Amino acid sequence: KLTLDLTKPGANVSPQLYGLMTEEINHSYDGGLYAELIKNRIFKDNPNTSEAWSLIREGGAKATIQLVAANPGNVPTDQQRQAINGALTTCLRLVVDTGGGRAGIANEGYWGIPVLPNTTYNASFYIKGTDNKPFPTQPWDPKPTVAVPIIADNTAGPITVSIESNDGKTVYASGTINLVKSTFWKKYELKLTTGADVKPTSAARFVISTKRTGVYYFNLVSLFPPTYHNRPNGNRIDIMKLLADMKPRFLRFPGGNFLEGPKLTDAFPWKTTLGPLEGRPGHTGSWGYRPSDGMGLLEFLEWCEDLKMEPLLAVYAGYSLDGDHVDAGPLLKPYVDDALNEIEYVMGDIHTYWGAKRAADGHPAPFKLSYVEIGNEDGFDESGSYDGRFAQFYDGIKAKYPNLHCISTIGGKDWLGGRGKLTIRKPEVVDEHYYRDAWGMEADAAHYDNYDRNGYKVFVGEWATTEGKPTTNLNAALGDAAWMTGMERNSDLVIRSCYAPLFANVNKATSTAPKAWQWESNLIGYDALTSFGSPSYYVQKMFNSYIGNKVVPVAGVNIPTQTRPANKTDSAANKMPDPIPAMFYVATQDTNTGKLFLKVVNATGKPQQVDIDLNGAGQLSPEGTLVVIKGDKPEDTNTISDPKKIVPVISKVSGISKKFTRTFDAYSVSMLQINTL
Ligand code: AHR
Repeated sequence: KLTLDLTKPGANVSPQLYGLMTEEINHSYDGGLYAELIKNRIFKDNPNTSEAWSLIREGGAKATIQLVAANPGNVPTDQQRQAINGALTTCLRLVVDTGGGRAGIANEGYWGIPVLPNTTYNASFYIKGTDNKPFPTQPWDPKPTVAVPIIADNTAGPITVSIESNDGKTVYASGTINLVKSTFWKKYELKLTTGADVKPTSAARFVISTKRTGVYYFNLVSLFPPTYHNRPNGNRIDIMKLLADMKPRFLRFPGGNFLEGPKLTDAFPWKTTLGPLEGRPGHTGSWGYRPSDGMGLLEFLEWCEDLKMEPLLAVYAGYSLDGDHVDAGPLLKPYVDDALNEIEYVMGDIHTYWGAKRAADGHPAPFKLSYVEIGNEDGFDESGSYDGRFAQFYDGIKAKYPNLHCISTIGGKDWLGGRGKLTIRKPEVVDEHYYRDAWGMEADAAHYDNYDRNGYKVFVGEWATTEGKPTTNLNAALGDAAWMTGMERNSDLVIRSCYAPLFANVNKATSTAPKAWQWESNLIGYDALTSFGSPSYYVQKMFNSYIGNKVVPVAGVNIPTQTRPANKTDSAANKMPDPIPAMFYVATQDTNTGKLFLKVVNATGKPQQVDIDLNGAGQLSPEGTLVVIKGDKPEDTNTISDPKKIVPVISKVSGISKKFTRTFDAYSVSMLQINTL
């Protein structure tokens, strides 16, 4: 039996309770949300090989391709000459010795190039042509023995650009550019449009080709499909729609581990993620591949703008994943200054130095920012340096922006929050992270019920029930929902929360490439062509779509219990009592509309009949709305080939009164909307 007490005003529900957390992991942006289709577009992904690129040689053409890298230092003159600028220092050289047949370069995309009917793609690239053969490599030679390349007439002329099947037999879209005679780099742009009869496929490649001999150089090769809100350099439409449906209130970015980087020199380089793509060299990522940084600081902010989310900016705080750190004091000052500049880029007006830069980048209006996170998971910093580092950042930020809230990554009492204490500055908000199996989440669903209300506020900045891979299954969704009932009931304390990781490209390993994802439990999955939400995704969407502004206290009696399954070994959960509840619930009310939202999780394999008592309710409509997410067994899940196996089912229900009975399905998460009159 559940008794909802409508006589006592409950705690306020945080209006920012549910948001998103994001970082470049599992090909979240490159090969994910960021719509660029060309993998390794500036040829820097791998210094030893032109990864994702291959040579096209047909009809007797003789040709080769080679990376040309103008690394700083003592490199051959020929290579230095091929850099476009300090960011675009590596290019691809195509040497065509015998023409007549087709010769060119092909890009495989991020596990394929998605081809859709009636679709216009924007292609662009830098190219220059010469008839000179590559110079002999003589780095010590101050005067090159070979003359500066001179454009031969045969390189100038049409260059064909196409999207075609991997065997080259079907051309889905093609066009030409007219390569002019020039020794200098020049950017060419064109549109490629597919026909109405094209069948969707990702078994396709992008090709730039010629039938003329010569030496051709390529850089910054780009191909964009239509993007969300038609933003140039924008995001994939299908994934943005999935996110928009979640109605997220904020976006925590850029990490996570991606903020920190493997070494002190690898932190998220926000400055070189700004402006034209020509100025973005990319950088060493944290998850085993090299991010292009096409998703840069302004793109994160515009993503927030598109989905009406408030940015929650994490600033690098001088601690890297290899355990190295910068001590508080003069050495840390440049890092604090850098964070202040970054904050100014986000929220400074156009009269500030960095606000003016943002305006020059096309966004004069400042973004609203109320929370800044100092670092990420600094509980792993065994030196204990975070106490001093946090204080120095806190003082610097508060001096310039007194209204900004500084989130600490340690200083609370739980998990990483418990690893280390803050003694110099008191944390206002502490970020706590939880990754556990379903048993662990359900065992600890009441985690925040008895927290001290007079200390810091809690930001659950990363959490997930880790069941099912690469996207989570129904059992995870049950664990998530149980955990969310606890956060929602305590959302006077838990002011913000966000699931992590958000995205995974679900492509499997091939004989030549590793799988696309690195983390095992993720919310939204996709390949080049389509995307889907996990059962956990639908739980997130349900919880955030149906929520009031006040918590309604609920008392439960005779709640079914469960005992710990033998294979559950989560160390934190092992300390929990056993048995634990197998049903979880929370209720909130919208005091403006009078709507009540009762969420009930039934983690048992049997339908459960529940008496519901609306104590103190006024006039009620007998009709309400029921949303149910359920499956036949806990392992049920959604996949790229079966994306809608578990989705919410919305129905009208009747028979609602001050006391009524409802049966909640086995393995289900339900939301019952009750309308007061
Ligand atoms: O969400 C995946 C990783 O988990 C994050 O990058 C890191 O902060 C945490 O350890």
